[in-house]
Amino acid sequence: MCGIVGYIGNRNSQEVLIEGLKKLEYRGYDSAGVAVFTDKGLEVKKAKGRLAVLESQLGEAPLAGTIGIGHTRWATHGKPSDVNSHPHTDNSMKFSVVHNGIIENYGELKDELSAKGHQFVSETDTEVISHLIASLYDGDIVQAVQKAVSRMKGAFALGVLTEYEPDKLVAVRLASPLIIGVGQGENFIGSDIPAILNYTRDVYILNDGEMAVLTRDGVELLTLEGNFISRELFHVDWDLVTAEKAGFDHFMLKEIYEQPKAYRDTMGSRLSDDGKSVVLNEIKMTPEEVKAIHNIHIVACGTAYHAGLVGKSVIEHLARIPVETDVASEYRYRSPIITKNTLVVVVSQSGETADTLAALREAKRCGARVVAITNVVGSSVAREADDVIVTWAGPEIAVASTKAYTSQLIAFYLFGLYLAQTLGTQEEAVLAETIAALQALPEQVEAILEQAETYKAVAEKIATHENLFFIGRGLDYAVAQEGSLKLKEISYIHSEAYASGELKHGTLALIEEGIPVIALATQDALLEKTVSNIQEVSARGAYVIGIGMEGSPSLEKSVNEQFLIPGTLSLLTPALSVVPLQLLSYYASLARGNDVDKPRNLAKSVTVE
Ligand code: F6R
Repeated sequence: MCGIVGYIGNRNSQEVLIEGLKKLEYRGYDSAGVAVFTDKGLEVKKAKGRLAVLESQLGEAPLAGTIGIGHTRWATHGKPSDVNSHPHTDNSMKFSVVHNGIIENYGELKDELSAKGHQFVSETDTEVISHLIASLYDGDIVQAVQKAVSRMKGAFALGVLTEYEPDKLVAVRLASPLIIGVGQGENFIGSDIPAILNYTRDVYILNDGEMAVLTRDGVELLTLEGNFISRELFHVDWDLVTAEKAGFDHFMLKEIYEQPKAYRDTMGSRLSDDGKSVVLNEIKMTPEEVKAIHNIHIVACGTAYHAGLVGKSVIEHLARIPVETDVASEYRYRSPIITKNTLVVVVSQSGETADTLAALREAKRCGARVVAITNVVGSSVAREADDVIVTWAGPEIAVASTKAYTSQLIAFYLFGLYLAQTLGTQEEAVLAETIAALQALPEQVEAILEQAETYKAVAEKIATHENLFFIGRGLDYAVAQEGSLKLKEISYIHSEAYASGELKHGTLALIEEGIPVIALATQDALLEKTVSNIQEVSARGAYVIGIGMEGSPSLEKSVNEQFLIPGTLSLLTPALSVVPLQLLSYYASLARGNDVDKPRNLAKSVTVE
């Protein structure tokens, strides 16, 4: 977690750092700071709170200089506070460090350094790094960083400056993302490409175990052992405007509206021209290898996990392979039974989620083949998996995931169809019918979005409550779980998602007069039973908001409010029914006056366990 930037050149570095940090605030925003070489030496300014707090302090007392590092924090060790903010320095104030990640053995290192007289002022693991580098410095900052890193366990991307060598910026990457931007007479570091895109489009993507030494006039890439690396520059050809709000009030709303495009782009050339088959050239498995799959484990976190719940039903239905879906943080510690005939599918928008990455590594260690579904080309997950299905949702900035989730659903439909056609588990007509229904989805989402305003009044009503329930059966239950998470994270309203049939086994006791219940009822085969469950909550006074499907029997008589999604195959309803839930959450958050794009306590990319 956290975002780091660094600059060495001739511009006012404070401005470059703040601009970069604005693009990285999605990675954490509980405090921010910069260190700049000024004519007084290495000066640090940092402040608890959003980046705007730091920006205003720097506006009043600027740090004039052309070399600096900056950081936006999502607290791990130590609460959000001025002193725990980065950059951190050593006691001599000659070394300054920004860090994204976690140093697992920081306690041990801290004890060792304390015994040598180092005094620590913060509760962070990062402060230990600045002291460690200072203690190992012997006239060469690159060697000091290499020695320090060899003592550190955990995950880190670092930017390091020392007053002793003020013409160098040193960057290191191990299990946390880091890129180097290359300009003319100036160079940059950043946790992510948008951080530097205002200044250059040429980047090096650092791999784990690599470091970079930046001067104004050049960049050297090295292994942690000091061997030089030669690498082609990567030219970024996408536009920063795609990462801006484009006229919407919030990134979340913009991203909800981008879903039809994300569906189209993710399907793209992966459907044959005659619309009868799926072409997944990125899956390098031979038909024999596909036939040898005994079972599939889908592993992911949060919203991506919810996509995996849908993926399980899709694959089991289409390909008849047993699938288990696991939360990544549980997976590797529950000693899962993984054989070489297990296929592990990891799902991650960012491709950097620490738990998901660890699950991927565990799966590979056990000999499984790993397929990744990710939105970020070149991410750690993408690089370490055997096969990668990229979801072409484009950059997702709002912390609450919308278009990445639905693109993950599309990826699962494509993958399920691919497995089915390779294994021959479905008639050709079924495959063609499913593909035709898939192709209709983007327009159907557009139809839902045309009615977006109709969700406002109900959302405003929901916003006055502190508790509510989502219910559904089968795929509706999977979507209910995503709807509940979305509402919780941006509106801060407590909600629970229940399999409708399970309510009567205890939770029904919580239903009381006026409590909102959002009932998903899009699965024709389960409709009668779902309607019975709706009646159970209605009879106890619940205010029921039903999400049904055009062409299915009406819910009108059983619910207080009814919304309909366009008619589609039961298997595909999640790609439509989640959209009303996203809109309800968005408008409820707005009604409560929350920061929709940056909900409290959360960050976009969770690169710690
Ligand atoms: C919620 C949300 C999170 C992420 C989760 C995994 O809206 O976005 O629950 O889905 O942190 O992130 P990725 O997909 O980047 O691995």
